[in-house]
Amino acid sequence: MVLEIKKVGVVGAGQMGNGIAHVCALGGFHVVLYDVSQEQIEAGMESVQANLNRQIGKGKISEEDRDRALTFIHPTGNINDLSDADLVVEAVNENEQVKRKVYSALCPVLKPEAILGTNTSSISITRLASATDRPERFLGVHFMNPVPVMELVELVRGIATEDETFEACRVFTEKLGKTVAVSEDFPAFMVNRILLPMINEAIYTLYEGVGSVEAIDTAMRLGANHPMGPLQLADFIGLDTCLSIMQVLYEGLADTKYRPCPLLVKYVEAGWLGRKTQRGFYDYRGEVPVPTR
Ligand SMILES: NC(=O)c1ccc[n+]([C@@H]2O[C@H](COP(=O)([O-])OP(=O)(O)OC[C@H]3O[C@@H](n4cnc5c(N)ncnc54)[C@H](O)[C@@H]3O)[C@@H](O)[C@H]2O)c1
Repeated sequence: MVLEIKKVGVVGAGQMGNGIAHVCALGGFHVVLYDVSQEQIEAGMESVQANLNRQIGKGKISEEDRDRALTFIHPTGNINDLSDADLVVEAVNENEQVKRKVYSALCPVLKPEAILGTNTSSISITRLASATDRPERFLGVHFMNPVPVMELVELVRGIATEDETFEACRVFTEKLGKTVAVSEDFPAFMVNRILLPMINEAIYTLYEGVGSVEAIDTAMRLGANHPMGPLQLADFIGLDTCLSIMQVLYEGLADTKYRPCPLLVKYVEAGWLGRKTQRGFYDYRGEVPVPTR
């Protein structure tokens, strides 16, 4: 029997977690949004509110939709509040050790039949599943950023994922109005396997002095018709996340073509992680973003 998902838990209230909570609540699901950081919970709820208001401004939803969605989200710093969730989507940092730690705290809290999904951008679903007590009810549920805007969700089975688990999540993501693309469990799946090497190459192009930040982004916007330049996109994704994905590709596929650009490493070492820290390839602290190189 396919489990019907009614209540959703989200672990991590960062840019992806709060976006997932947003679309689930708007889709009529009750959501528990959990994070270890009170500051992130508050910032996450502020983002949800701001993004719902933006959707009202664009005529996509009504004020009643917003008010209803907000009452559907229960923000919390208490992991035990996830105990009655049918599906929990983990959206903590792209770091295997952090994710493993979350699973060991989370699994004893979950009901036995609950499904655990990870929003990882790149890490092996099979390996993450083995760090849980429920590999058959574990899978990759990879939302795209920004979640309320992007239509795609990649669903990824691990070696042990049961068909019922996969089917319940497919039905769930379609109820959110998203389109599913099924990916095999390979490093970085499909979207990031293609997208991140392009971003990394843009950073090499900057590193080797072929063009400035502005020139590279303009070239790809106007020359390849991309909606935003690759360096702007990297800042949007988060440079720590970009670096982690490149490392997973580099190590997982053992091919030097995926070597993370040393300049990307340097930005991450500086704590210049993009929009979320107000500085990356652009400086966002003033009125308009200013290129940092
Ligand atoms: N940024 C993107 O464009 C993007 C797109 C798709 C998928 N993802 C994936 O989504 C996940 C989250 O990325 P993000 O960009 O939202 O990161 P983020 O840095 O914005 O947020 C991570 C959140 O996890 C929280 N966290 C850390 N440890 C925790 C713990 N033990 N328990 C509970 N919460 C904890 C942090 O406080 C933070 O709020 C990553 O796996 C990432 O690869 C990111």
